[in-house]
Amino acid sequence: MVNDGKAAPIIHAALKRLEYRGYDSVGEATVYDGRLLIKKDQGKIDDVHKRLDLDDLPGKMGIGHTRWATHGAPSMVNSHPHTDCSNKIAVVHNGIIENFNDLKDELTDKGHVFVSRTDTEVIPHLIEENMKSGLNFVESVRDSVKRLSGSYALVAIHVDEPNKIVFARNASPLVVGISETGLYASSDIPTLLPLTKKIIEVYNGEMVILSEKGVEIRRIEDWSPIKRESSIITWTVEMAQKQGFPHFMLKEIHEQPKCLEDTLRLQQRYIDLLTTFLDRSKEIYLLACGTSYHSCLAASYMFSNLCNLPTLPVIASEFIEQYGEAVNIDSTILAVSQSGETADVLHAIEQARFKAATILGLTNAIGSTLTRVSRAYICQQSGPEIGVAASKTFTSQLMVLSQIALRLAKVRGKISQEKIDYLEEKMKDIPNMVDKIILNQEKKVKGIVEKYKNTKCFYFLGRGINTATAFEGRLKLLEISYIPSIAYPAGESKHGAISLVEKGFPVIFVCPQDGTRKALIGNIMEMKARGASIITIIDENDKEIKALSDEYVDIPSDVPELLSPIPYVVPLQLFAYYMAVEKGCNPDMPRNLAKSVTVL
Ligand code: AGP
Repeated sequence: MVNDGKAAPIIHAALKRLEYRGYDSVGEATVYDGRLLIKKDQGKIDDVHKRLDLDDLPGKMGIGHTRWATHGAPSMVNSHPHTDCSNKIAVVHNGIIENFNDLKDELTDKGHVFVSRTDTEVIPHLIEENMKSGLNFVESVRDSVKRLSGSYALVAIHVDEPNKIVFARNASPLVVGISETGLYASSDIPTLLPLTKKIIEVYNGEMVILSEKGVEIRRIEDWSPIKRESSIITWTVEMAQKQGFPHFMLKEIHEQPKCLEDTLRLQQRYIDLLTTFLDRSKEIYLLACGTSYHSCLAASYMFSNLCNLPTLPVIASEFIEQYGEAVNIDSTILAVSQSGETADVLHAIEQARFKAATILGLTNAIGSTLTRVSRAYICQQSGPEIGVAASKTFTSQLMVLSQIALRLAKVRGKISQEKIDYLEEKMKDIPNMVDKIILNQEKKVKGIVEKYKNTKCFYFLGRGINTATAFEGRLKLLEISYIPSIAYPAGESKHGAISLVEKGFPVIFVCPQDGTRKALIGNIMEMKARGASIITIIDENDKEIKALSDEYVDIPSDVPELLSPIPYVVPLQLFAYYMAVEKGCNPDMPRNLAKSVTVL
């Protein structure tokens, strides 16, 4: 909202600064001369601007949005802003409305017409419905927001309120900017910095009204006013995009608790749909590359132990040679790909489709090729991952796969209700557990990096499902710090790799308090007997293994074995990150690598 001139060019420039957070469509809306004016379309900001001229919207007040799809594929109708039936209210939203289906049904029954497949579109219609019942615009936004469950940072404008913008926040970022030339708000600070360095934080459960009266903050629950001092931001735009972290990778490692919360907010119907297909499959291939393959490896233990369902984790580039002739109409392929564009995965899927197999997808990118070639897919909702090395997307993939495995176990009646309740409860604890590990162990990990910074090679060992964790820790370290690293199932290491071990050779063990612990202690003793330096990622109460360790990192107790890769991988992500920084490497852009390998 600007004092003079047009809001649209300022909004457009601000959206360009938000582009790093994802863009599959973009839109703006302004209010001018009693009309609500909207320009929006699918595509990158520059392409849409070339087609529609996003600056050419009159009006001193407006809103804008660049989209990273979570519900509804990228398209013009799914792009924001979304409006009500009367086209008087426009809303943009960042987050996930969990109960949007119920709200949509309720509003449809009241005669509201929806044009998109997004969760966001229910918001303007809720506001419209409330205004019909006599509430004013601000009251209607507040009452609508109280109906929402999930995460949101939303902005609403009304054609009859040309000097008012209303915001609400829960679990998605929102910050207000103040300057002599106008009042602003955004999902994050980088977009505001060229306009002002004077910002006011907005917290969960708060609404903000920007108007000619200035900035008004209120608590949604009881509408009590909130006085909040502004602060001056000293970051550059680039620093702000990393939210003050030195690299995107470290920001994304720290983002995992929130991403895991979002992954727990998945629409249950998508989990049910994939579960239905898996339940009727005769054979299941878990197809992926790199880190996503490690998710598949871990998932094979989940499906086997929870659902008595054998599955085959397969490295996509090997699929055709290994199973190309065996795959058939009774086969199901669950392809896991963060980008949804990995050529090896898509090439293997082509062969499987040719043999009439059922293709399912798990991805972070709605609208990606994988979503188009899949019979059904689920989006992990981790938000864009800028760092080339996967971190938050790995733990979110595991969170999705564990929810599917648990649902399938229920459907197949393979585990007791008591165990299901226990695992569902523990699943909810995981985001907070990861938060605690980062908070309490990051410094410890940095100390271990300092101690081993001149080491030439590392050995990662795990057993059971944490073989996958050991493999992922190895990949992280080698791909961003370029230190040759080896990973093995701990039981296999005596069949050859143990010959590497000599005095001081560092062996990193992933060893939770689970069924593999006894055997792992044996492996630790084998390595100690050869002079290895033992580094363990262990249960915080495991005094016995602590006594055997030269260094250890504590993980909160009582993690169910089948969920353990999620918390246990976090210290290995931090280890790889800090080692890369110690070696003077750029963790965000490791040499020779691309975020999405779209060539065979
Ligand atoms: C992981 O850190 C790597 N960047 C890489 O192994 C990646 O996991 C692999 O290329 C698969 O990518 P996808 O999940 O997008 O298919």
